[in-house]
Amino acid sequence: MPELVFFFSLAPAILALILLLKLFKRKKKSYNLPPGNMGWPYLGETLGYLKPYCAITTGDFMEQHISRYGKIYKSNLFGYPTIVSVDPELNRYVLQNEGRLFECSYPSSLGGILGKWSMLVLVGDMHKNMRMISVNFMSSARLRTHLIQDVETQALLVLKSWQVDKKILAQDEAKKFTFNLIVKNIMSMEPGTPESEKLRREYITFMKGIISAPLNLPGTAYRRALKSRSNILQLIEHNMNERLQKTNGDGKKVEDDDLLGWVLKHSNLTTEQILDLILSMLFAGHETSSVSISLAIYLLQGCLKAVEELREEHIRIAKAKEQAGQRSGLNWEDYKHMEFTQCVINETLRLGNVVRFLHRKTLKDVQYKGYDIPCGWKVLPVFAAVHLDPLNFDQPHAFNPWRWQNGKTSTTTNNFMPFGGGLRLCAGSELAKLEMAIFIHHLVLNYDWDIAEPDQPFAYPFVEFPKGLPIKVYDHQCLT
Ligand code: HEM
Repeated sequence: MPELVFFFSLAPAILALILLLKLFKRKKKSYNLPPGNMGWPYLGETLGYLKPYCAITTGDFMEQHISRYGKIYKSNLFGYPTIVSVDPELNRYVLQNEGRLFECSYPSSLGGILGKWSMLVLVGDMHKNMRMISVNFMSSARLRTHLIQDVETQALLVLKSWQVDKKILAQDEAKKFTFNLIVKNIMSMEPGTPESEKLRREYITFMKGIISAPLNLPGTAYRRALKSRSNILQLIEHNMNERLQKTNGDGKKVEDDDLLGWVLKHSNLTTEQILDLILSMLFAGHETSSVSISLAIYLLQGCLKAVEELREEHIRIAKAKEQAGQRSGLNWEDYKHMEFTQCVINETLRLGNVVRFLHRKTLKDVQYKGYDIPCGWKVLPVFAAVHLDPLNFDQPHAFNPWRWQNGKTSTTTNNFMPFGGGLRLCAGSELAKLEMAIFIHHLVLNYDWDIAEPDQPFAYPFVEFPKGLPIKVYDHQCLT
């Protein structure tokens, strides 16, 4: 008995000693880190990394770091020790090992604004669940049967409202198109109704907060965005409750022809989870594709040869339909014939890099190409710099859609990852391409356009045209 008392009185001291030894051992663990610069305490190099630059370039910060340290370098970004990777193989390795060696890890400010159940911040089984719902919502069967018609209707609605010879903000118009399309498909909201206009206004304030510094102080864009977030959620919840009331609260009897209806009917998500899912689809589903359409308008304007070739392709499609007596809108067969258009889309995504890099962290120590990446460090796979690297793409700063023709890309497709990859590959990639293709179809069949005021895409890092891409359009009636 006295031995036991003696043992227990010493136990805390023994435990402390073991912990100290472990800590000492961990401290002594020496990593072979890639070269780089950790910058200032806490801030690190974040300000330099986020400094806006022209989106069709790699940017000074990245260029200088690559030339000084190589394609894998260490830094301190967003408050964490970080490995930045411009190495296409490491980028693929990171995405393919999601959940095993690496995990999605966006800054907590993004979670604060998109919500803790947003797909962009969820990991593990809950992410799989939510992903399954959104992949199902944008399945190829739904694209063929439902979405293609909606895409065309919404594209025409916007394009037909354009007045020739007047200044148009192409970026706003593209946003209108993709926003109307997504709100119709997630909540059956018709464009132009007071409800959808209110949602659009709130969303603009919300978006300004996402791209601002995450300072939750009175008067800041972030604070205003949090307020808009709560207004948007109220709107979605109101829509949801109205449906449930119509069916006496029984979610299983709700119509499932939009995303909200589908989750109410087929999933067991809580109200909070449904609201965050709808909000994150609104975010993921229209910002990126509208910027891509603006980029296509911008890049094509500088390459009239590509516009001519596009026009030939789309006239062929429209005439074939006419000859076959098809009076209905575009169908999947027509879309499949838009081959050169797909080259234009790829080239726009390669050069414009709407999503420039992703946020990941390591779940354990990882060795790669002789370097160590310690457990808990952030890893940023930077696609933009891979897409603009002359070793991967010949004359990478030239807009050259023909590089994608006839499978010429087989050596480079591995390095082309505009939609990410692995378990978190963009759930809306096919819809995004469909939106771009159909918008381009009606654009080139109806209009010529000029840039009305000099503007260029900037990476903030969200890509945006500061002036909204002012253009002037002129009638170009191909089919008369
Ligand atoms: C050209 C347009 C688009 C680009 C460049 C793009 C790019 C991306 C990228 C790179 C990711 C991966 C994020 C990560 O791994 O951390 C992603 C995820 C996602 N995207 Fe897109 N996207 C586009 C359009 C769309 C559209 C139209 C929708 C829906 C309507 C959509 C829905 C999603 C969703 C739900 C995720 C999360 C997937 C997951 O975590 O499993 N995206 N997108």
